[in-house]
Amino acid sequence: MKDVSFSPISSVSICFYGAGSMAEAIFRGLIEAGLSKADRITVVNRQNADRLRELHQRYGVVPAMGEQAKQDALRTSDIIVLGMKPKDSAAALRSLAPLLRPEQLIISAIAGLSIDTIVTLLGGNKAIVRTMPNTSSTIGLGATGISFSASVSPMQQELALAMFGAVGITTVVEEPLIEAVNGVSGTGPAYVYYLMEAMITAGVDLGLTREAARELTVQTVRGAAEMVSRTGEDPADLRRKVTSPGGTTQAAVDTLERYRFQEGMNAAILRCAERAREMGEAIRSEATNP
Ligand SMILES: NC(=O)c1ccc[n+]([C@@H]2O[C@H](COP(=O)([O-])OP(=O)(O)OC[C@H]3O[C@@H](n4cnc5c(N)ncnc54)[C@H](OP(=O)(O)O)[C@@H]3O)[C@@H](O)[C@H]2O)c1
Repeated sequence: MKDVSFSPISSVSICFYGAGSMAEAIFRGLIEAGLSKADRITVVNRQNADRLRELHQRYGVVPAMGEQAKQDALRTSDIIVLGMKPKDSAAALRSLAPLLRPEQLIISAIAGLSIDTIVTLLGGNKAIVRTMPNTSSTIGLGATGISFSASVSPMQQELALAMFGAVGITTVVEEPLIEAVNGVSGTGPAYVYYLMEAMITAGVDLGLTREAARELTVQTVRGAAEMVSRTGEDPADLRRKVTSPGGTTQAAVDTLERYRFQEGMNAAILRCAERAREMGEAIRSEATNP
């Protein structure tokens, strides 16, 4: 385990406002990497006390039970991470607004929710970081896109980058590109799981045991990702290199092309980004016409 005293994150208190799977992925990554102490992390949700107890038992994080404890956590934490579903965010941010102090850093992981809408809901000149993480943060292999509002200080930027850097890689982008990040990596693990499901099912159809099909698929996906990462080569070049004319890979790739694989992936990613914008627009409209 790393020495937490060297992490800028170790000295701050973090409140996860919304304690679902994304919040868990981030704080679990921080705790398991040894970068945050569990007793500096508080979890707040709307009503599910069993979930908070479970998170406390599993990771040692502090559950904010009851209205007073929730408000105290939100008032006193240095960083507040917004982790509720987009549809719940307007109501949650309205309750948060009167509790905030100007020096607190707000980090949102909510799909579609713009910095402008957060400012409308929270009021004032708050320091806001908009992020699009993914659930692979749980195992330190997350990929997070990050944008900063003008009021985020360089030191706060460093904190946010350290926080998400502790659970994977980070890419700073201009805010309008956060939806693109959502399409590529925010939702990305689901595409890869879908591909893996298909590979395992086909392996079983061809007679492999489920265990063998699963093991071969996992190692293949891991190996291919590592090849791209370690060689620095373009995936298209690596694909060409393993495709001999008239061979088996050529036959498989031609079949994928017949089913318009690339077109389907492209449309899926564009639709994901568009859906994030639609959800953001719905929250903006709720924020401006309550
Ligand atoms: N999952 C992903 O792969 C992923 C990737 C990138 C970004 N995100 C973003 O992360 C956010 C959370 O997603 P998720 O999958 O973690 O959702 P989730 O598992 O459904 O968790 C949502 C959490 O928000 C809490 N909540 C709802 N309304 C609240 C309120 N008014 N005050 C306090 N807490 C409230 C819920 O509490 P109760 O259970 O008590 O209602 C629950 O703990 C979403 O906005 C999503 O866009 C998710």
